[in-house]
Amino acid sequence: MTKPASNLQIDSSRLWDTIHTTAQFGATPKGGVRRLTLGPEDKQVRDWFRAACENAGLDVQVDGLGNMFALRRGRDMSKPPLGLGSHLDTQPTGGKFDGILGTLAALEVIRTLNDAGIETELPLCVTNWTNEEGSRYAPAMMGSAAFVGDFTVDDILGRKDAAGISVAEALDSIGYRGDLPVGAQPFSGFLELHIEQGPILEAEGKTIGVVENGQGVLWYDGRITGFESHAGSTPMNLRRDALATLSEIVLAIEAIAVELGNAVGTVGEAVIASPSRNVIPGEIAFTIDARSADAAILAQLDERIRAAAAGIAAKRKVEVTLDLVWRKEPTHFDKTLVGAVESAANALGYANRRITSGAGHDACNLNAKVPTAMIFVPCKDGVSHNELEDATQTDCASGANVLLHTVLSLAGVAK
Ligand code: GLV
Ligand code: MN
Ligand code: MN
Repeated sequence: MTKPASNLQIDSSRLWDTIHTTAQFGATPKGGVRRLTLGPEDKQVRDWFRAACENAGLDVQVDGLGNMFALRRGRDMSKPPLGLGSHLDTQPTGGKFDGILGTLAALEVIRTLNDAGIETELPLCVTNWTNEEGSRYAPAMMGSAAFVGDFTVDDILGRKDAAGISVAEALDSIGYRGDLPVGAQPFSGFLELHIEQGPILEAEGKTIGVVENGQGVLWYDGRITGFESHAGSTPMNLRRDALATLSEIVLAIEAIAVELGNAVGTVGEAVIASPSRNVIPGEIAFTIDARSADAAILAQLDERIRAAAAGIAAKRKVEVTLDLVWRKEPTHFDKTLVGAVESAANALGYANRRITSGAGHDACNLNAKVPTAMIFVPCKDGVSHNELEDATQTDCASGANVLLHTVLSLAGVAK
């Protein structure tokens, strides 16, 4: 029996169960998840996802970078499907929600439509994008970036992790280098549900964030070459200390981001080449992540970080190189789709506000090629990229209901 679409709700317990079932793949003792892209735990969750999609009657295809597309037929198969989903990989010390909530909610939407006997006009396509997190391989959002043509497939296949394993080797080792050409899957639009990963919704008591914009991103690989020498016998004024140089760079980045406003800057990785207690560090590799939602400020961040690094290098007589490995301009999501998300949230009676995403998302890449929008739900204390990341069953279900009703309004219910 077909139920009326207007008061349809997803199954909150079923969604919550899938979140906890999948959190076992890569579960950490502190209650988080370590599911690095293209590793054994990623294979486990991908296999689970493929089987769950097939059980829901979807036809699963995998492209040459391991992006997964699970198609539900629509009444009008001449039209491209509406895409919905996110990513299944996590940070090294990640949580149960970042990414996977969006893909599981998309699956829950399909299960709900199946149970209600509803066919949509447009086909629907549930997706899992490869390597959203960017911690094993740079850049982040690698699968969706190649999908929209920001990088060539060969470039991405050749990227190596810290152990020297290429993306191609990792894909082959888990059996997820598929036949579908990257970028070939058409979409008429794309929707991604995600936890906010920041504190705004919780602080304001809002259930839904209607995401309008996404921050632009700069990622650099840095290297400092000073000179190793004896920690006891080298006078302070004769040192060329790579770590002291990095310390100044870290503080300069912090000051630049604060001064510019609407900007953030982080040195998240730093490795001393041959660390020893009584050797002045001579060589350090480090990374910088700097972001702003304003394109002009992003450009100033780039200029000022480079100038600060050059000035500190000259003063300390060391060499500093900064290699820009990823630059993404700020995202402005599709006004029609953003409006559809807002209308669905209002129709369902959820307190909501428009919001800018601080984190990057596959949706930000897709927006360049396909009309795209995002839905945020609150997470506890705004914490993410941490094993303590948490969200409530009610908020996850509310987000999935907004996704469902946005899908119904965009994909149309077949008469
Ligand atoms: C992805 O998680 C990012 O925003 O770096
Ligand atoms: Mn994510
Ligand atoms: Mn993340």
